[in-house]
Amino acid sequence: VTTVPVDERGAVVDALGDEAAVLLTPAHQVPMGVVLDPARRRQAIRWAAGTGAIVLEDDYDGEFRYDRQAVGAMQSLAPDQVVYAGTVSKSLAPGLRLGWLVLPAALVDGVVDVKGSAGAHSSAVDQLTLAELIESGAYDRQIRRARLVYRRRRDRLVEMLARYSPAVEVSGIAAGLHVVAHLPGREEDDVAALAARHGLAVQGLGANTHPGHEHPPALVIGYATPPDHAYTAALARLDAVLAALS
Ligand SMILES: Cc1ncc(COP(=O)(O)O)c(C=O)c1O
Repeated sequence: VTTVPVDERGAVVDALGDEAAVLLTPAHQVPMGVVLDPARRRQAIRWAAGTGAIVLEDDYDGEFRYDRQAVGAMQSLAPDQVVYAGTVSKSLAPGLRLGWLVLPAALVDGVVDVKGSAGAHSSAVDQLTLAELIESGAYDRQIRRARLVYRRRRDRLVEMLARYSPAVEVSGIAAGLHVVAHLPGREEDDVAALAARHGLAVQGLGANTHPGHEHPPALVIGYATPPDHAYTAALARLDAVLAALS
């Protein structure tokens, strides 16, 4: 596996060469939280069309955009070059292990064969239940509800972090279930270790970045995990960690 850099316009796709495929998170880059800009999207598709490569569009949290309507999928721009992957891991629960692929027609049989022979059958009951949720409209309602909950959580987190600006700066769009908080001049691992001593599991950006890629010191803070009743206390702990640093 080779890697490409990421800047404020998303993955730097002109760094692609003769690879057979590229995995992108266009709606919300992991971990930096930026959107892949339209020119880069077109460039990746041109590259794939020209070399016969596949673009894997990993839309792992595209339901959760808080500032505007979600950007359309790359898959619709080039259905023959792009494999689209979605999941219920963010909208329902990662433990369900359910997701979906939209494949170029030429790949469908091969992927079905591999899935069939991989032995990892998805639960029929879970799939039928999800189908019922989708058809009845309950899945849409769940996403709307969850979007509101996570948006409020993000707002509260960002508001708290803003009190520590400029020692702490948030980057990335208002979306998804994590925030990247930059800590200029700090050792991110030390801050993550201090957070762990306060009972918080947050990671440094380095734990989410391929070795060898330079990155600024930052924490990746997921805000979806605590149950509602524990979120205020989790925020207060993070506040205490940052206060101890300042
Ligand atoms: C980049 C990325 N892709 C996909 C997923 C979802 O994976 P799965 O559907 O296997 O739970 C995640 C979950 O955190 C993710 O961060």
